[in-house]
Amino acid sequence: MKYEVFATYDQMCRRAANLISAQIILKEDAVVGLATGSTPLGIYNTLADWYAKSDLDFSRVRTVNLDEYCGLPFEDPQSYHYFMQTNLFSKINIKPSNTHLPNGLAPDIREECKRYDALINSLGGIDIQLLGIGHNGHIGFNEPSDTFSKDTTHIQLTEDTIRANSRFFKSPSDVPRSALTMGMRSIMCSRKIILVANGKEKEEIIHQAMEGPITPRLPASILQLHPDTTVLFTIE
Ligand code: PGA
Repeated sequence: MKYEVFATYDQMCRRAANLISAQIILKEDAVVGLATGSTPLGIYNTLADWYAKSDLDFSRVRTVNLDEYCGLPFEDPQSYHYFMQTNLFSKINIKPSNTHLPNGLAPDIREECKRYDALINSLGGIDIQLLGIGHNGHIGFNEPSDTFSKDTTHIQLTEDTIRANSRFFKSPSDVPRSALTMGMRSIMCSRKIILVANGKEKEEIIHQAMEGPITPRLPASILQLHPDTTVLFTIE
């Protein structure tokens, strides 16, 4: 794993946006794996700025997101469909039909998990995957567990994640208790991975993920086995 530390959040976001745009320039129909949460916001703003300056073209780009809550309508401001629409898709020239997220409202959740994996395969896998990391070491919503989930999975969120994500909701009881998340197979088969994190409180978990034992108790530790992962970190 490569590790790059930045003095400021802006610098870290520019570096991540650079890596993503390099991929899109190299392959205009690249499959870009996207993440939600606070950390990617500056990256999406930067990409949208570069699009506005005509430096980037998303017209052939395909995207797959890591995860989505179960039970939230797409138009709910806390849904990841809404997040992606508001923070990136509405600001660039990507075709809506080229953007993909798991559907947390699907009537048959098991079928939806299969559909999502088949979809990622049909796109030829992911060229570059952006990841955040949870305080508990989760990537996507792959929570600490006894085993790694290989495929897209319906997952029960841990108390830790519910507490962390309650900052976006009116109260912790409003946070959905389950979600659909891309599994480790699609993540690990991504040709390139960028993991971004900021803040003192993420420093120790990043360190453990990069140098500690590889264990499903710290899901991000599996990235030690990936041939091209870059971790971008800033304390800011
Ligand atoms: P954050 O979330 O970017 O909001 O810290 C990361 C995550 O929980 O995966």
